[in-house]
Amino acid sequence: MNTVLPLLESPTRSLELPESARDGLTTTPFGLYVHVPFCATRCGYCDFNTYTSDELGPGANRAEYAGTAIAELRRAAATLGPDLPTVSTVFVGGGTPTLLPAYDLAAVLAAVRDLFPVADDVEVTTEANPESVTPASLARLREGGFTRVSLGMQSAAEHVLAVLDRRHTPGRAVEAAHEARAAGFEHVNLDLIYGAPGETDADWAASLDAVLASPVDHVSAYALIVEDGTRLARRISRGELPMPDDDVLADRYEAADATLRTAGFDWYEVSNWATSEAGRCRHNELYWANANWWGIGPGAHSHVGGLRWWNVKHPAAYADRLASGASPAQDAELLTDADRALETVMLGLRLRDGLPLGALTDVGRVRARDAVVRGLLEPAAHEAGRAVLTDRGRLLADAVVRDLTD
Ligand SMILES: C[S@@+](CC[C@H](N)C(=O)[O-])C[C@H]1O[C@@H](n2cnc3c(N)ncnc32)[C@H](O)[C@@H]1O
Ligand code: SF4
Repeated sequence: MNTVLPLLESPTRSLELPESARDGLTTTPFGLYVHVPFCATRCGYCDFNTYTSDELGPGANRAEYAGTAIAELRRAAATLGPDLPTVSTVFVGGGTPTLLPAYDLAAVLAAVRDLFPVADDVEVTTEANPESVTPASLARLREGGFTRVSLGMQSAAEHVLAVLDRRHTPGRAVEAAHEARAAGFEHVNLDLIYGAPGETDADWAASLDAVLASPVDHVSAYALIVEDGTRLARRISRGELPMPDDDVLADRYEAADATLRTAGFDWYEVSNWATSEAGRCRHNELYWANANWWGIGPGAHSHVGGLRWWNVKHPAAYADRLASGASPAQDAELLTDADRALETVMLGLRLRDGLPLGALTDVGRVRARDAVVRGLLEPAAHEAGRAVLTDRGRLLADAVVRDLTD
């Protein structure tokens, strides 16, 4: 039964899920994201919504977090019902989800199964820091229904891990990937960051080699982004560390793509490679297809049928709202058709399959023709009516996306 829970109940605005957003709810792929906002220490480059015990303050604690997240899951099912969408993917991200005991994460997943219809082939990922898992905790996660583990490796070079403030030793991520496979996980990802201050070509080659020597079917490689307000940004602005160099970042990307390709990994999104279609992260594919998802947790964002909303950011405020029976949503916006079309283009262009030229505006189509001439879009795909990035286009993906959507 739909109890018509307000999605948003701020002092100035109350909002239920509009009928327009319900259209297609049961026919559009649906995923759940569960944010776990805790880390043992904060990495200098990271501006995600996550808190160390010192930063957390009173009113929120790790021990009660699974129960609080389950309270939001109950609201989600009541708000979306009575005709609930089938959950095709669950992604537990952070922060460091694996700072919670494996049985807490399994309890959240059990609640998903109690409250929602779940696809037989559901993909259930958890992010994990290499130092925060053990063979026993991985086995418990696998038994609890998790199907995929994404480990934050970042680098195999000790001095790069140090400049990033990572706590694990160089070999630990690969060791954890082996442990995950031994625990029965068929799908394991390693995240890498390139372009950190002090990283050399040889360091990057060694990181890629370490990944290839590990039993993973997925790799994500991200250029280091210097986020405002982070310790890394302060160190760079004081002149203690150099800013990542654009040419170096492009070289590292090319090296990653060449090395991964030779080893049987294909790119399927600009920063993501997999050994097969089954190895792709279906949850991220659901985001990139602009489908529907509900984000559980402080600061989590959701999107259902053109309605986007986001939760209050602090874990204490989030727990308070749910404890008093109120929605944790802080604000919402209804996207126009033009907003949605633009998002579809921005996300779709970064995919290996690209997108139909018909999804672009008239100006976008003219610019696409230009981009073919400049070697940024594939000529054959363009002939066949699609905009697909070339290898060079991938290096300049952000600029191509800006150009085609201006
Ligand atoms: C937010 S973390 C959460 C998972 C886990 N705590 C970890 O660090 O591995 C997910 C991934 O985002 C990437 N990331 C976070 N901040 C970044 C930044 N400023 N630049 C590039 N990549 C970043 C890292 O590769 C990290 O593995
Ligand atoms: S462990 Fe992950 S989420 Fe936590 S601070 Fe580091 S990068 Fe951010």
